Amino acid sequence: MTAPQWARAHTNIALIKYWGKKDAQLMLPANDSLSLTLADFYTDTLVRFTDSIATDQFALDQQPITGQPLAKVTRVLDQVRQLAGITAPAVVTSRNHVPTAAGLASSASGMAALAAAAAQAAGLTLDHPALSRLARLGSGSATRSIDGGFVRWFAGHNDATSYAAPVPAAPPLLADIRVVAVVFSDQPKAIGSTAGMARTAATSSYFPAWTQRAAADLHRLLPALNAGDFVQVGQIAEGNALAMHAATWAADPPFTYFLPATLALVQGIQVWRQSQGVPVYATVDAGPNVKLLTRAPHVAAVQRWLAAHFPTAQVVVTQAGPGISYYPAGKEVD
Ligand code: DP6
Repeated sequence: MTAPQWARAHTNIALIKYWGKKDAQLMLPANDSLSLTLADFYTDTLVRFTDSIATDQFALDQQPITGQPLAKVTRVLDQVRQLAGITAPAVVTSRNHVPTAAGLASSASGMAALAAAAAQAAGLTLDHPALSRLARLGSGSATRSIDGGFVRWFAGHNDATSYAAPVPAAPPLLADIRVVAVVFSDQPKAIGSTAGMARTAATSSYFPAWTQRAAADLHRLLPALNAGDFVQVGQIAEGNALAMHAATWAADPPFTYFLPATLALVQGIQVWRQSQGVPVYATVDAGPNVKLLTRAPHVAAVQRWLAAHFPTAQVVVTQAGPGISYYPAGKEVD
């Protein structure tokens, strides 16, 4: 066992969504997914293994956490303990820098930071694919938050083959892609992503079509990234997100994460894009908020359009972010 360790991981937004597990125990997704790691939203996590406590302790933003979220943390820690051959419980201290106003889930950054900090604190030297497999045990989307930029999660068929890796994109795509988060609600959703995807996979008649669509979208997205073709990337991402949400409508019982404002924004953006030729595309996760994909030169126009049409929505702009980083314990992180 070595010194306590801080790690930082950034959250990500999926362009090809992960929606459905083929093995909930191993956390294997039904389909490959692909995301963009984001610059401004991250989690810092400190892990310290110690025999002076009886069970794992987890505090997030100074609040003690128990129940299911603690169980996910322990799942990651158990794997670290097994790999390192140790038994000590851990004290886990996390700080989220994912503004509620961004409407982005923090489980991706949280579990990725945990995996990196815990491995380091246990004296393990793991490469990024191994860290992504560890993060996967906490939350699927965390698999993609070990690396920066565009990241693909290979679904795989067992623990060893289900991991993420960076995907190259022709310049200047990575440098000038922007994500404009438009927040209508920062309330916790009625159906979390774990439960929502489980219901969709188990009951939606559109689920087989969704997994086929996701594979086809990824097949088209990889060359679009390779060519640095933002318009293609945006079109594929928007279509993929709407296909995922279509599958929830066909679940039993049916459900949707959309609020009326979600649909109004997605349709409004499509009409504006078609009439004015502005390259802006929508993607939506397991909640009512919309993330718009655009390029740096168009951010100001997008903000003006949002202020005119959705004056009450909160808007946060970010760009591509890095993979995990480490800080020695004792050094203050902001
Ligand atoms: C819609 O990673 O939160 O954001 O693996 O059950 O913890 P669990 O789910 P989670 O699901 C993310 C779903 C999504 C799409 C995506 O990020 O790919």
